[in-house]
Amino acid sequence: MGSKALSGVRVIDMTHVQAGPTSSQLLAWMGADVIKFEPPTGDITRQQLRHDPNKDSLYFTMLNSNKRSITVNMKSPGGREVFEELIRKSDVIMENFGPGVLERLGYTYENLSKINPGIILASLKGFGSSGPYALYKAYEPIAQAMGGSMATTGFPENPPTITGAQIGDTGTGLHLAIGILAALYHRTHNDGKGQYVEAAMQESVMNLCRVKFRDHGRLMGGKGALSEYSRPTMGLTSVPRAGNDSGGGQLGNCIPCKPHGQNDYVYMVIQEAIWPVIARTISGEELVSDPRFATIGERRKNQAELWKLISDFAANYTKFELTALFNEKDIPCGPVMTTEEIANDAHVAHREMFVKVEGHPQGDYYTVGMPIKLSEGNVDKILPAPMLGADTDEILREVCGFDDAKVTSLKEMGAFTNPPKKAK
Ligand SMILES: CC(C)(COP(=O)(O)OP(=O)(O)OC[C@H]1O[C@@H](n2cnc3c(N)ncnc32)[C@H](O)[C@@H]1OP(=O)(O)O)[C@@H](O)C(=O)NCCC(=O)NCCS
Repeated sequence: MGSKALSGVRVIDMTHVQAGPTSSQLLAWMGADVIKFEPPTGDITRQQLRHDPNKDSLYFTMLNSNKRSITVNMKSPGGREVFEELIRKSDVIMENFGPGVLERLGYTYENLSKINPGIILASLKGFGSSGPYALYKAYEPIAQAMGGSMATTGFPENPPTITGAQIGDTGTGLHLAIGILAALYHRTHNDGKGQYVEAAMQESVMNLCRVKFRDHGRLMGGKGALSEYSRPTMGLTSVPRAGNDSGGGQLGNCIPCKPHGQNDYVYMVIQEAIWPVIARTISGEELVSDPRFATIGERRKNQAELWKLISDFAANYTKFELTALFNEKDIPCGPVMTTEEIANDAHVAHREMFVKVEGHPQGDYYTVGMPIKLSEGNVDKILPAPMLGADTDEILREVCGFDDAKVTSLKEMGAFTNPPKKAK
């Protein structure tokens, strides 16, 4: 066993698209041996949104680094034999197939645990395995729509809006990874017993929208108002879109800066204790005691005037100048940064959050780095995503323990070739 946090843990990663692969990639970065178990046609994202028609897409390579790839046709007897042998040799199986897919292939948690009682089956679904929506497929925007995010994102006068963050896919992947780690811990302390772990996209989005449901409770069915919102809320029975209101106990807003381009804004939060400093900075001593803004309650009521005063001051600075000026005075704020600005940012580089991945047969590429830092645990280097089936032979021999004759006979049984097309 090596010295990484998850060294010695083997994961059969049957996940595809985004939600599952981002989750298993985190486990790989913590040191697990993650075997990407693909149909012979490969994870569909290898071919989606390609920036070069002859290369695996960034959609695939940025979500599947530090994994090995085996291709197996699960719809052949030979493929099932390989799968079952891998189950015996593994700790975790991860999947985010559509509803009922694994069962149709003949595998439930019950029969998988008969093959290996220690196995942890981790499933990511749109809506979980039970309930009225259990049979619905799901993609990111569907989860955002049904988890409370779309109705509360954007401005009230505009249609419901999707957030740029992938809270349905990657957000659910995070929840799944936490569940897997808990199940591994439980197994260690309970005689090696595995379990079934499930994370649902609607539920993960709801969890990430927890403060919106806080506000839902505060509306009290139309009898309560949300005083921090910049628009009237009395009488509403569900939480409205709040534009750029901060959503916390402190006031906040996006302030335009020079030269007033699309992303020339600073988001600032007016912390209660820091108001006198802000007032002195943008105006002078008289603003500190101005009755329109002297208390948080007054500032909430008069926030349109307040934001105008701050915006007039901010118009003399670029977003980076204003951020530096405010931060010197301990005023919490940050510039709205474009992907280009983030990719070239010195702090991001220092934290290794946008890194070059070297050694992919189709060329180097950049990826978003590991957001969880473990002083004793992460892999030393982000390695390129595997080419389709690149490690099939190695895994069959090293992990399954199959010899040449066995591999040849499995090949003859169609274990590694395309499954037949489904009859329509
Ligand atoms: C994402 C999703 C909508 C894609 O739907 P889809 O392209 O129809 O794919 P499914 O997962 O439903 O089905 C995969 C098929 O490939 C087959 N397959 C998968 N791996 C295989 C293998 N190694 N060998 C043979 N067949 C394989 C499955 O058996 C299934 O076939 P079936 O329809 O005959 O049962 C669906 O997987 C889903 O709802 N997943 C759960 C939610 C989720 O993760 N969404 C986020 C995506 S980022």
